[in-house]
Amino acid sequence: MTDRELLQYAVEAREMAYAPYSGFRVGAALLGKSGKLYKGCNVENAAYSPTNCAERTALFKAVSEGEREFVSIAIVGGMYETINDFCAPCGVCRQVLAEFCGPDFRVVLGTPDNPQAFAFKDLLPFGFGKNDLE
Ligand code: THU
Repeated sequence: MTDRELLQYAVEAREMAYAPYSGFRVGAALLGKSGKLYKGCNVENAAYSPTNCAERTALFKAVSEGEREFVSIAIVGGMYETINDFCAPCGVCRQVLAEFCGPDFRVVLGTPDNPQAFAFKDLLPFGFGKNDLE
């Protein structure tokens, strides 16, 4: 799958965003090593803190369906109908992704017309992970 295609799936996922409080709508498309694609959107809550980000929605869907190894994720976000040029994953999502994604996992940001890919190791240097608990 090309980066452009993966971003296009993230744009599709964003259509389901439930963001009545912030108005910031996010979509994520996560590609598993099995070849399956998992789409996620942010799901906000009136109590604010239970809100789930799009990336975690996609990851939790995947893990709950038995997928634990991943190739890449694309993320898009922006206020209301706008899609920003660039929407980076928050720190909590980086930590949650770190549980299942290795240093070479690809994070595709930008827009379908201008994809920008990063290696996960560059987005969460010196992270805390399962190896620390051994
Ligand atoms: N949000 C995400 O879905 N992913 C991120 O990485 C950053 C933030 C959502 C959470 C909340 O619904 C809205 O964007 C504003 O923070």
